Amino acid sequence: MIKIIVSGFNGSMGQKAVKMIKSNDNFKLVGVFNPVIKDLSPSTYGLDDSVKVYNNLSLIDVSADIWVDFSIPTAVFENTKFAIEHDYRPVIGTSGLSEDQVAELKSLADNRKLGGIIASNFGISAVLMMKFAQVAAKYFDQTEIVETHHQDKLDSPSGTALNTARLIHEVQQKDQTENPNESDPLGTRGGDYHGIKIHAIRLPGFIADEEVIFGSTGENLIIKQSTTDRESFMKGVQLAINEVISRDELIIGLEKII
Ligand SMILES: NC(=O)c1ccc[n+]([C@@H]2O[C@H](COP(=O)([O-])OP(=O)(O)OC[C@H]3O[C@@H](n4cnc5c(N)ncnc54)[C@H](O)[C@@H]3O)[C@@H](O)[C@H]2O)c1
Repeated sequence: MIKIIVSGFNGSMGQKAVKMIKSNDNFKLVGVFNPVIKDLSPSTYGLDDSVKVYNNLSLIDVSADIWVDFSIPTAVFENTKFAIEHDYRPVIGTSGLSEDQVAELKSLADNRKLGGIIASNFGISAVLMMKFAQVAAKYFDQTEIVETHHQDKLDSPSGTALNTARLIHEVQQKDQTENPNESDPLGTRGGDYHGIKIHAIRLPGFIADEEVIFGSTGENLIIKQSTTDRESFMKGVQLAINEVISRDELIIGLEKII
């Protein structure tokens, strides 16, 4: 039985994670965390009495194998560091970690030989999109990324868009160049990762979509994925939990285990 703590348990994704854990015979929810809550009674949140509810990181003392985190970008670094230092294997879905922070967390976990994963996207379609984009990047010099999310998303670009750009850049091994005569007083050309333009759209009605557009003389390739229900991420979270339990390093990206 894999014992799990969920951080950010009563947010949109946290609730899905709790539901997935409860419905899995091999998983046991032992603790939940959110510093914003006042009421620490499990029944308030529809949880069994055996689940410990915490609103203070330093008071978490329950024995657990896994720390699932779907909290907020400003808290995820501290939360993940806490998890690693207490030997809870981190399964981190929260976005907003910088490259330096990811590197620091990886070295911390790897030194302790603690398995874990930081995945900007637990959706299978998004992971496959990234893999296909990496294959295409070999044959196209120019790429732009358009990502669309719900209006409440706090960070831009999305972790998935940034990760896609990173993977494409890894293959191309050189920066994409811009037209030096371009004029863009309104900043409409988007964000820039080594010359790969990223455009972030925030609108109600969407959950998470991403399009990777490749261009070359006389042809274009568009790879698009669309998430219409947050439930879809849970297949990836479940897969990650079962995988990291037997690993001894922090994995960056679900694509490494799919
Ligand atoms: N990796 C993925 O596949 C994936 C998919 C969807 C969303 N996300 C990311 O997951 C995160 C959560 O998304 P959401 O839609 O559930 O957001 P949400 O706002 O619905 O939930 C966040 C929850 O975290 C709580 N919280 C605040 N401070 C906290 C702290 N210090 N520690 C723990 N919890 C804290 C909030 O009160 C809230 O309940 C975001 O960063 C989002 O980008 C990742």
